Amino acid sequence: MEPYDKIMAAVEFIRSRSALAPRVGVVLGSGLGEFAGRLQDAAAIPFGEIPHFRRVSVAGHSGRLVLGTVGGVATAVLQGRYHYYEGHAIEDVVFPVRVLGKLGITSLLLTNAAGGIGNELRPGDLMIIRDHINGMGLNPLRGGNDERLGPRFPDMSTVYDPEFQELIAAAQAQIGLEPRRGVYLALSGPSYETPAEVRMLAGLGADAVGMSTVPEAICARHMGLRVAGISCVTNLAAGISRQPLSHREVTETAERVKSFFMRLLSMVIPKMA
Ligand code: HPA
Repeated sequence: MEPYDKIMAAVEFIRSRSALAPRVGVVLGSGLGEFAGRLQDAAAIPFGEIPHFRRVSVAGHSGRLVLGTVGGVATAVLQGRYHYYEGHAIEDVVFPVRVLGKLGITSLLLTNAAGGIGNELRPGDLMIIRDHINGMGLNPLRGGNDERLGPRFPDMSTVYDPEFQELIAAAQAQIGLEPRRGVYLALSGPSYETPAEVRMLAGLGADAVGMSTVPEAICARHMGLRVAGISCVTNLAAGISRQPLSHREVTETAERVKSFFMRLLSMVIPKMA
């Protein structure tokens, strides 16, 4: 089956389960999944039930598509995502985003947990992604290009919509957070970085490092979606902090900032439609 037909099969299935026509898509990162509970009139579909979706394994990701409204705007939330480090093929990692694109969203908000490197980022900060560096060692668009998804050589000069960045900054200021912007760099993981790697990443211009988001952002732009990204800085990157890194620290920090994060999403999503 052509990748495009798999995408459309998933779209048809979702349409058979919910009449909602979502305009905004959201991907919830590690420890940030609780926001899905805030949707009104929601229908939830476990990833495993949707044709061609893979199963999700990481702790803190429950793996459901939740369709509902946020401030009156029809929204599709991916509660959990597929990571490349889990061993999934990169086409499977980006599949849900492509499905949302064909389901009709025009804007996509990507969230993640990340280690802070630059810009005086500290654990608990919510960084507005202003650009990214693909350090994963592969591109999700490699292979035959299907023009029904997008062009062969998509422009990446403005991946993160400047208007959305402003919108998020204004919402942050409104809830008393100092807006911070930065460059997100994705590596494949799953091991965290060494201090020498973090020094290298700082030299490359990265403000935060993580293991997701970039493939999804590339595919979303390929499809012509407007993209926004927020990194929850859950820890200082290796060597910047003296402490060893742990997944526990990541989920604990995400838990601590959850209420701010959820308020921010509630404010921003309706304005992204
Ligand atoms: N490095 C990579 N990915 C991460 C980190 C980190 O320090 N924190 C949360 N995700």
